[in-house]
Amino acid sequence: MLSLNPSIESITSSAKEAFEKHFGRPATVMVAAPGRVNLIGEHIDYCDGFVLPLAIERTVVIAAAPNNFDTVNAATEFTAETTSFPIASPQEIGTPKWSNYLRGVVQGFHDRKIEVPGFDAFIVSSLPGGAGLSSSAALECAVATLIEVLSGTDLGKKEKAILAQKAEHDFAGVPCGIMDQYASSCGQEGELVLIDCRSNEAEMVPFSREDLTILIANTKVSHELSDGGYAARRKNTEDGLAAIGKASWREVSFADLEANRAKMDDTTFARSRHVIGEIARVIDAVEALKSENFPRLGQLMYESHNSLRDDFEVSCPELDHLVAKAGEIGGNGGVIGARMTGGGFGGSAVIVCEADRAEQIAAGLCESYEKEFGFAPEIFASRPAAGARELR
Ligand code: GLA
Repeated sequence: MLSLNPSIESITSSAKEAFEKHFGRPATVMVAAPGRVNLIGEHIDYCDGFVLPLAIERTVVIAAAPNNFDTVNAATEFTAETTSFPIASPQEIGTPKWSNYLRGVVQGFHDRKIEVPGFDAFIVSSLPGGAGLSSSAALECAVATLIEVLSGTDLGKKEKAILAQKAEHDFAGVPCGIMDQYASSCGQEGELVLIDCRSNEAEMVPFSREDLTILIANTKVSHELSDGGYAARRKNTEDGLAAIGKASWREVSFADLEANRAKMDDTTFARSRHVIGEIARVIDAVEALKSENFPRLGQLMYESHNSLRDDFEVSCPELDHLVAKAGEIGGNGGVIGARMTGGGFGGSAVIVCEADRAEQIAAGLCESYEKEFGFAPEIFASRPAAGARELR
């Protein structure tokens, strides 16, 4: 019932082969950038909050080679639609839709006065799209890593995340926070990435217990962050902060919120309550992890889910079902905690559990989910994995 993560070697060799078949010559550069799952700290990266994602063992791989034509020619395994556009500045939004991730990243290099050579690229991925696992951030970070290699520059991991985030804002139309691109750029094996989204600085938090693992359950219900739900939530939080009259959510307490309740509608109040509670939960979760207080970590994950469901209203019946079922299996069955992860409106749930019971837990979740919804989720396990890098 647990689906396997294809090895990096196998994804790399299929990317190489596909490149050669498509472009008729061998690739000279290979890069990879992973997706992410967020352990806790949801919808607060754009509120100066803390978030705790990890890069996962599902990744985008690009096989590429420079060309001498000042163009980008790219193809993917997902669609027959290819893209070909001039590398020159300024880049504009175009078709196919997926090409905008490339165009946006190319523009980011132009903005930094870094000369980008033309290149051919073939993109493959082991990340399910639309699953809330940041396949777009992974693509952006992979393209940015590729251009670093081709142009002989090193942006630095944080700067690369910022460049990739701007590509998402300007070329994909999603006003996202920094979490996804940061996790894909800065992830490290065995480490969670604690991001302070006010300073944009990160601290690595070890996830060192070999007897634990992280399950990712894709509901296969797809969400579209650019359809307005995400932007609307972001606007709610801006309205909440404005009503409270503070410069940053990091300075806001529940007492401040109560004191300003009359200045906002019920929705803004509920959204604000989520933000304040979730920032505190991340700090507590890091403490729980460091002291190996796993029951506490689990409790915080369930509280986070409930807040996202009730106050932030970004969950859905499929996610609620998985989290409730994981909770039923509970500590006795090896489950530490569960919650929805990512932007929501579908996507995936994250479950921390005992590694040797992961298979059994996944089987239980699949069975009950299929009974309820008539189709099975996809569940796989991952430990924290490496971030964007050149593959040599
Ligand atoms: C999406 C965004 C992130 C973050 C999450 C919710 O994944 O891209 O920046 O806001 O939603 O936590």
